[in-house]
Amino acid sequence: MLNRNRHVNKNQQKELRGKSAPPYLDSRICLGKYKVFQIDKMIAGGGFGQIYRATNLDNNEEVAVKVEKSVGNDAQRIILESKVLEEMLGVPHFPRMFYVGPYKGFNFIVMQMLGLNLGDIRKALPTRKISIHSAVRLGIQIVEGLELLHSKGWIHRDLKPTNCCVGLDDKRKQVFIVDFGMSRRFKNDDGSHRDARFYCGFRGTTRYCSYKMHDRREQGPVDDLWCLYYSLAELIEGQLPWRDVESLEELAQIKKVCKHEMIFPSMPTKFASFDRNLRRLKQTSTPDYQKFQTILASCVKFVDTNAEFEWDS
Ligand SMILES: Nc1ncnc2c1ncn2[C@@H]1O[C@H](COP(=O)(O)OP(=O)(O)O)[C@@H](O)[C@H]1O
Ligand SMILES: [Mg+2]
Repeated sequence: MLNRNRHVNKNQQKELRGKSAPPYLDSRICLGKYKVFQIDKMIAGGGFGQIYRATNLDNNEEVAVKVEKSVGNDAQRIILESKVLEEMLGVPHFPRMFYVGPYKGFNFIVMQMLGLNLGDIRKALPTRKISIHSAVRLGIQIVEGLELLHSKGWIHRDLKPTNCCVGLDDKRKQVFIVDFGMSRRFKNDDGSHRDARFYCGFRGTTRYCSYKMHDRREQGPVDDLWCLYYSLAELIEGQLPWRDVESLEELAQIKKVCKHEMIFPSMPTKFASFDRNLRRLKQTSTPDYQKFQTILASCVKFVDTNAEFEWDS
């Protein structure tokens, strides 16, 4: 499940996905047992699903609806996603799920409406870069979200700027993690680590995944932090050094040897300890999340959590 179009095989390519596919749902249709979720229009299409703006007719609240086909290879993704969202109900940094159900040849999830994703926010800024101060604030929150997700026994495996959205209105200074279609339980019910498989199919996005995924090794909590590290680099620097590298072998090699200063030329050198600390962690390690937050905070004079983000001011 390589999340990059140029690596899907020819048969898959024939079927248009996400944004390029015609809208799965017509506007004005009402979903749910009591038909209270009225579709307005499609607002985003990711690799697999489509996201719609809708209204909960019961309370007139705006909601988001994610829709995926209920047949085919990827049909289980949205079921998995609803499982994760159910476990993360009421947890900060996760959209609240209101309803999940089938509709004709589709499955859908109704959830809290969020704002733009960090990838789109970055691209809309004149510099195509997010300020270090904003990125540090976002990073600290995402580490907190990951800690909460991991504490429930799940890893995300596809964390990246487009899978992180800011909230709306009074939640505009909060970050939410979305898209759990590639998540995996890494703990058994008794809290012990699941045994690592000898070889794992690729899960994630080649640009942001840890170098270990390129070797098809089992991912653990640390790999979500690697994804965050590379995502922050893209947000702060505007691009990653391997942006134009096509070959997966070359990409893996660059990630293994690329020095921190090459990835983060604008960040203070003390941020290198983020990288050093990640390299010390094993697949089964529980990261010291607070340490990663402290390293992030040390890169700015003061973390002003009340300031407006530059895209809101
Ligand atoms: N609850 C939401 N509210 C608003 N926009 C959302 C919401 N969830 C996802 N999105 C937007 O839709 C895009 C695609 O959704 P995502 O869940 O990532 O689907 P995919 O699995 O297809 O990548 C995201 O990048 C984000 O911009
Ligand atoms: Mg996505």
